[in-house]
Amino acid sequence: MKIINNIDEVRAQVKEWRKQGLTVGLVPTMGYLHEGHASLIDASHRDNDRTVVSDFVNPMQFGPTEDLESYPRDIEHDAALVEAHGGDIIFHPEPSEMYHEGFSSFVDMTVLTEELCGLSRPVHFRGVCTVVSKLFNIVQPDRAYFGKKDAQQLAVIRHMADDLNMDIEIIGCPIIREADGLAKSSRNTYLNADERKAALVLSQAVKLGMDMVRNGEKNCADIIGAMKKHIEAEPLAKIDYVKIVDCKTMQQIPELDRPALCAMAVYIGKTRLIDNFFTEDV
Ligand code: PAF
Repeated sequence: MKIINNIDEVRAQVKEWRKQGLTVGLVPTMGYLHEGHASLIDASHRDNDRTVVSDFVNPMQFGPTEDLESYPRDIEHDAALVEAHGGDIIFHPEPSEMYHEGFSSFVDMTVLTEELCGLSRPVHFRGVCTVVSKLFNIVQPDRAYFGKKDAQQLAVIRHMADDLNMDIEIIGCPIIREADGLAKSSRNTYLNADERKAALVLSQAVKLGMDMVRNGEKNCADIIGAMKKHIEAEPLAKIDYVKIVDCKTMQQIPELDRPALCAMAVYIGKTRLIDNFFTEDV
């Protein structure tokens, strides 16, 4: 396993693999890897001859008041995890390698980015689409792996790949949770002991919503209302949103009459966490 900081070097290595007829999987990450990322690397290792893990805290997807500076970083830990899960390269560029002076081209998207996290984080998806396009161009993988915890991101990237004729299979992998239900996230590390306990309201609300759907509830306002009530009972929790949207368009729907995503973002203290379920999976 090699750590490479330079775009030309990654390209040269991938070219070499291509000459040998090998397939390549890409796992884009912002580092501080946990079991959620490990499951993506495992999936890529299973499906492809070689796996590149990008490890880059992308400044472009953070708003001015967000946690770019404090976002956790630990490349040694990441290297050990990637190696243990069969990754071949960590691509770990400096921001100046990805965004040279005078950088002024962006990939942006309408509709799918207008709801959920796109509403609360206005620059986020432009940053995600731009950096993921760059990673796709640099690595030119056969397949790329993303977690379903970031369900809107997954839908946006699928849509971008389709719109822009990117010949890459986009693979969504299940949410990985702690034993008590909290979805794994690099941001969980911000939580103190009380907040860690309080954060369980997210997965509890997911379970509540899933149970209602399983029992035949079709009215989205009723499902959302019950989930919000549960979260609001926790004093350390502040809801950003709980919404039900059409799986493909990410637009809100009143009735569960098609495959839908129920997604939430909740502040626990200062930490913004997300969780979700797909109504077809319950
Ligand atoms: O999901 C993430 O960690 C990031 O948004 C991604 C896809 C690596 C782009 O920076």
